[in-house]
Amino acid sequence: MPETEGGQRRRLLPLLGGNHGGRSAMTCKYRCADACFHPAPNTSDNEYFGDVVNKAMSRRGLLRTGAAAALVVGSGAGGALTAAAAPSSSRGVAGPKPPTPAFPDLPERGRPVGFQAVGDNNVDNIVVPNGYDWSVTVAWGDPILDGAPEFDFDNQTEAAQLQQFGYNCDYVSIVPLDRNFDRALLWVNHEYTNEELMFRGWSGAASATVEQLKIAQAAHGGSVVEIERVGDTGEWRPVTRRRRYNRRIHTGTEFRLVGPAAGSDLLKTRGDRTGTVVKGMLNNCAGGTTPWGTILTAEENFNQYFGATSGITDATTAERYARYGIRTDQGTQRGWEKVDSRFDLATDPNEPNRFGWIVEVDPYDPESTPRKLTALGRFKHEGATIAIAEDGRVVAYMGDDERFDYVYKFVSKNAYRDGNSKRDRDHNLRLLEEGDLYVAKFTGNSPEFPQNPPADGLFDGTGEWLPLVVDGESRVDGFSVEEVLVFTRLAADQVGPTKMDRPEDVEPNPVTGTVYIALTNNSARTPEQRDEANPRAANKFGHVIGLDEDGGDAAALTFTWKIVLIAGDPEDPETYFDGFDKSQVSQISCPDNVAFDPAGRLWISTDGMPGASSVADGLFVMPVEGEDAGHLRRFASVPRGAECCGAFITPDGRTATIAVQHPGEGSGASPDNPISTFPYGDQPRPAVATVWRKSPTGGPFIGD
Ligand code: FEO
Ligand code: CA
Ligand code: CA
Repeated sequence: MPETEGGQRRRLLPLLGGNHGGRSAMTCKYRCADACFHPAPNTSDNEYFGDVVNKAMSRRGLLRTGAAAALVVGSGAGGALTAAAAPSSSRGVAGPKPPTPAFPDLPERGRPVGFQAVGDNNVDNIVVPNGYDWSVTVAWGDPILDGAPEFDFDNQTEAAQLQQFGYNCDYVSIVPLDRNFDRALLWVNHEYTNEELMFRGWSGAASATVEQLKIAQAAHGGSVVEIERVGDTGEWRPVTRRRRYNRRIHTGTEFRLVGPAAGSDLLKTRGDRTGTVVKGMLNNCAGGTTPWGTILTAEENFNQYFGATSGITDATTAERYARYGIRTDQGTQRGWEKVDSRFDLATDPNEPNRFGWIVEVDPYDPESTPRKLTALGRFKHEGATIAIAEDGRVVAYMGDDERFDYVYKFVSKNAYRDGNSKRDRDHNLRLLEEGDLYVAKFTGNSPEFPQNPPADGLFDGTGEWLPLVVDGESRVDGFSVEEVLVFTRLAADQVGPTKMDRPEDVEPNPVTGTVYIALTNNSARTPEQRDEANPRAANKFGHVIGLDEDGGDAAALTFTWKIVLIAGDPEDPETYFDGFDKSQVSQISCPDNVAFDPAGRLWISTDGMPGASSVADGLFVMPVEGEDAGHLRRFASVPRGAECCGAFITPDGRTATIAVQHPGEGSGASPDNPISTFPYGDQPRPAVATVWRKSPTGGPFIGD
């Protein structure tokens, strides 16, 4: 690590061996059920973008107004969610309605980045720029419920894990408990577990003990942790007394299915004849935060938890499983059917239909039942982020993270109420239960692409939102509304959307209104399958698209778009940093999560740089307006084997909270051969960490 990079609160730990950043077979098995080793499950014959006749729209700018687009609130990036969103009426929240916090010194739009970029490295720790500090807020196994035992790696139990912070942290959100954001609730997804790092001597699910399987189930889900500021620094620490809000959500927690598909025969099982009650949420990856203060958490690679121990003969069922990557020729990869037979397709063929949803959780009410939102469709949801349309309807943007899958949006039937009475909040809590569902089609401005790429290196064009369900009716031939919502991928295949390079976060910038789409990579795209929105064959490094809804209205059915980042080594002529001088930018690959600070700067966290670029994953910031637009710099790197998730930038623009997911993951790694000792110098533990400016010298804002 260069001397110029500093600010590490914890001492750097000794390097342990070489670069184990490349993913191991074990890694891929647990993260996404070996998705990359199977053919991509989208075998529909939709046209690729390059096959489509160009609509002869003019090039960039024609439909751009230049004005701030839709009002965007409550983004998962910490956007504009204010203390006013904290409900005064929910159980557990005492006192009057908290006033909206006033942060008078927010950074101006177009503000340049000012810190010295962190260099590429493979350090087994968090590294941040000089002038910044960081600390671990909470880590796997930390007790978060009253009475929870201290973590004991060699004596783990299900009972303890149910009261302790869960495993692999992904989406991070912070919602306020007071006007200054000095007390708040931290929400964290626990996407999946690395049993090979959790248990000594682990040799696979087949030989696992029932207690180990139950511990893994208990370590999935999500956590609510009450946090408070440490003095007037940016540091957060967990509250350890009178923890009224803390909660663990896990595989045994009860959820309610709501919306048009709730109660459908497609969702009924032996254990739930109503089709409305589900135990657990699985593989919750990224998410979003609503203006009314709830968390949207996204079930992603749920397919890996299901398998068949005897043959599935029904062709329709087999096709549906195949489109979602659910294997019918083997038991589950995690062996959970040994604990609960519902994970065996032969026992409960509809059980997987009850996963793959956006889930809404009310962090302010620890006894509330989280709801799975069927109106938003079922796929490998990366996340869901909210904008408010001109007429007040709520728009949710969503990505289906699979090679050659799609970008979606939901538009609510009813309008958001910007009040904080119990009536207003109860109304808002139903907004995502009814509305229209669309899937995106991108059209480029170079009809002759790929034979003749745009001369200016800029890929851009127009697009439309293709209807799937509108006004409560299916717009897909041969599909009922219930079938569109439960088998959304198959329905979308019928209407010709654009096959994308793994859509991860799709998130509106609360300052500018532009919606940013992180496309993490797609090694399987052939030269013939290129299109202007996905212009690289064997896309190893990923790219980011900026989408502007026509008229600046989030409910519009047409849009313009341009690629703002083609990731990779800036010396690679294929890369593009919004036109900025590439000699001044940092290397980046595999964009995953996006976030925004109060100046509207785009923050990108990465998942896959160790494999793609042989350097640590991390957090990057890129201005999107003004002379510094495209000036991307690395702000942080994460420990060996980890991906970086988040970030959440507080609305005062002073701290960034990130998740360090799967530290120590890699070939041959085990408790007796750890390749990371983050964060406490022994076994690697997934953790949430917060970064803040050490002193206000040069400006108080993160990224300055
Ligand atoms: Fe769990 Fe799409 O990353
Ligand atoms: Ca992700
Ligand atoms: Ca990821």
